[in-house]
Amino acid sequence: MTYHFSDRIANLQPSLVREILKATSNPDVIPFAAGNPAPDAFPVQDVARIAGEILAERPIDALQYSITEGYSPLRDAVRSMVENHYKIPVRENGLIIISGAQQGADLASKVLVNEGDTILCENPSFIGCLNCFRSYNCNLVGVEMESDGVDTAKLEQAIVENRNVRLFYTIPNFQNPTGITTSEAKRREIYRICKKHNVIILEDNPYGDLRFSGASLPSIKSFDEDGLVIYIGSFSKIVAPGMRVGFALAPQPLIAKMTVGKQCEDVHTNMLAQMIIEQFLTKTDIEAHIAKIAEIYRRKSRLMLDCIAREFPASVAQTEPEGGLFLWCTLPEGADMMEFCRIAAQRNVAVVPGIAFLADEKAPCRSFRMNFSTPTDEAIVRGVSILGELLRELY
Ligand SMILES: Cc1ncc(COP(=O)(O)O)c(C=O)c1O
Repeated sequence: MTYHFSDRIANLQPSLVREILKATSNPDVIPFAAGNPAPDAFPVQDVARIAGEILAERPIDALQYSITEGYSPLRDAVRSMVENHYKIPVRENGLIIISGAQQGADLASKVLVNEGDTILCENPSFIGCLNCFRSYNCNLVGVEMESDGVDTAKLEQAIVENRNVRLFYTIPNFQNPTGITTSEAKRREIYRICKKHNVIILEDNPYGDLRFSGASLPSIKSFDEDGLVIYIGSFSKIVAPGMRVGFALAPQPLIAKMTVGKQCEDVHTNMLAQMIIEQFLTKTDIEAHIAKIAEIYRRKSRLMLDCIAREFPASVAQTEPEGGLFLWCTLPEGADMMEFCRIAAQRNVAVVPGIAFLADEKAPCRSFRMNFSTPTDEAIVRGVSILGELLRELY
């Protein structure tokens, strides 16, 4: 049989991160390449108790079909969280429960982007969403990152120079992969530029609650009096990624179309998972839980940075994130980053080559991503020491 794959999928490669993660399933490999929440950050007992209560008291609600927009009590709880916790005025926006932030990127593309239209993203950016954009056969263009967020002059230039720019995708808090936080001034400038040129902003904020230093900054959505921001939130990093629950807050006409798009994809998000998240938000001390997990990541990031300061040569640069799960290391001029990642993997330490996160995966890149949430403390110490030894041999 000859299989004729669609143009949308034919050129799409399996995510480099997923491929590397396959290697990290080997227990001997130190998993700096992963992006999983730390095992001790999962509220296992609360989830087990709540799931038991739901299945004992309201089993059919949890097991029956439901509406695409999402479980109403959860939508109410999320609206209240958005207003009170994230300080985003809901205004006339609609809200839909989605099966993780990743589905938000998919639905935004499905609703707004025709083949050949342009999507702009930060360069580097989250590979999962980049691959999702690619699957719509769009013109994907990366805009360079600086230490305080995207280069806004280059953003405006990219909007002017590319045809049919439909979306600018941004991760303002503790970006994946760099750990960079976009400054408030740049958030306002991004909003101003996109408004001027009629470009929708896709603001993806899965890590916003994982802040362990610095003051929190207003989300771009909180400025949105003009209906140009699709804000995506997720419970993957504050409750559990396996539950696949997130939400999109966006102008009502966009939510209406996203709802139709979601109907075709998965009808609705898993009901039991939605009900568990609703009870978790309304019946437990969510603020205390968030403070607890932010502290886990503060400690682990500090440990990794201290080890790096001790072990890596000064010619290797790294970001110092104020939250999230990742930091981004850059090798000295002339270094062969892929060769470094390959030898590191041979020595049983997995990091992600930076090219995986570029809009153009063939562009030159001397950086790699390291994750501090997945490995144990002991693995962080040992893994950074192995990488340090390799770096000293090579550079
Ligand atoms: C920036 C970013 N957006 C979205 C996602 C996907 O999250 P979810 O599990 O909510 O689909 C991730 C996951 O790592 C991410 O890093």
